[in-house]
Amino acid sequence: MLPTPREPGHYRVGMVCLGNICRSPMADVVLRAKVAAAGLDDVVTVDSCGTGGWHVGHPMDDRAADTLREAGYDGSAHRAQQFAHTWLDDHDLLLAMDRSNLDDVGGPSDRVRLLRDLDPEGSGDVPDPYYGGTQGFLEVLAMVERSCDVLVDELTALPVR
Ligand code: 4NP
Repeated sequence: MLPTPREPGHYRVGMVCLGNICRSPMADVVLRAKVAAAGLDDVVTVDSCGTGGWHVGHPMDDRAADTLREAGYDGSAHRAQQFAHTWLDDHDLLLAMDRSNLDDVGGPSDRVRLLRDLDPEGSGDVPDPYYGGTQGFLEVLAMVERSCDVLVDELTALPVR
């Protein structure tokens, strides 16, 4: 069950990782595409941030962008942002990529969870692919796509209007 919308007519989902150049931007772009395909883009807003500030203003990692492009998504508009506490009040749902990111935003709550709580094929962390190879990015994409499919089904069922 998703948390109820703070305001009728809107639902804001934020994806959170460490650098906001690999995992959460991939989840952001995939969820946006799936939200649009479901006809929910007038109601659901998606963005993403990192708990660290090293990459603020940068596009996503080339390996993340390439992995998305090869799967038919366009990540070119992404620019990294850093988490701030206002995100906790501004969003209906924040989805952290791993348990460390979850701790860094204050731990789980009604509105703050792990993305893979929605993954029908597993749970726990979306592993950080930054120091690894291409396979890690493909694994991130698969986890993100599975989780976002479930999320879009749940968003479709929400009484947002
Ligand atoms: P992300 O990956 O959290 O999935 O964006 C990382 C990106 C950058 C760094 C660590 C993880 N970094 O240490 O710069």
